[in-house]
Amino acid sequence: MSKDAPIGMFDSGIGGLTIAKALLQRLPMESLCYVGDTAHMPYGDKSPERLKAYAVGIAQRLLDRGCKALVVACNSASSNALDEVRDLVGPDIPVIDVVQPVVDAASLHHPHGELALIGTRATVQSGLYERLLSAQGLTVTSRATPLLAGAIEEGFHNGTISSAVVEAYFADGWAADKDALLLACTHYPLVVDEICALLPRRVAVLDAPGIVAERVASVLEARKALSSSTAPTRQFEVTDWTQSFADGAAHILGTSVDLVEAPWPEVL
Ligand code: DGL
Repeated sequence: MSKDAPIGMFDSGIGGLTIAKALLQRLPMESLCYVGDTAHMPYGDKSPERLKAYAVGIAQRLLDRGCKALVVACNSASSNALDEVRDLVGPDIPVIDVVQPVVDAASLHHPHGELALIGTRATVQSGLYERLLSAQGLTVTSRATPLLAGAIEEGFHNGTISSAVVEAYFADGWAADKDALLLACTHYPLVVDEICALLPRRVAVLDAPGIVAERVASVLEARKALSSSTAPTRQFEVTDWTQSFADGAAHILGTSVDLVEAPWPEVL
């Protein structure tokens, strides 16, 4: 596999672009092939079986594009479909999820800490964070915040609507006495300012995109698979062309992207 082959990434929509942005800042010479499964957005209210089917379908698509590594840039898919994606991909191509790197960072920076977590229903109901964190001696209180990803995908961030939604989920103060908050959905970094405005300053909010980007860098470095290309490529695909994805991508990446619609052969 060529070192200059792209890194493949996917999410239901624009959320994974928060990871892509951090990754391109950390590894600017890497090529990227991103798929937003907008036809099936939101992932957060889907069953584990459906998430497995979507994730495996997209992973196959990214393999067909010749990707040298795969980033499951979605907590709902990482929590429910990682084994299936790894089984499909096999040992030669690394699969990096967004859960384990954040769990490791939480245990490093907040040993024996009491954490708060917000995520989609699919992520919270999987119980994966809870299992991994408690294995490292941390306790976590989780809350599903199902309105957030859809609102963010529709462009409601940094405004009164996102502030009101965030406030509805934090108003009872459940997270105020915790050591740190985990944003267990890749859409949520887009409303981190609204969240921080409601929490005491002592509650740390982990930088999940930066943490995951660092993990990708170390995995590729260990495999001697880092690119040194001077002409990296960026491909952005969606399974259903939406204006909100195009606008969101431009907002997150700071530049408009050439967005290709590549629908599923059949809708799952
Ligand atoms: N951004 C995704 C996640 O991390 C999915 C959000 C959704 O589609 O509900 O879970």
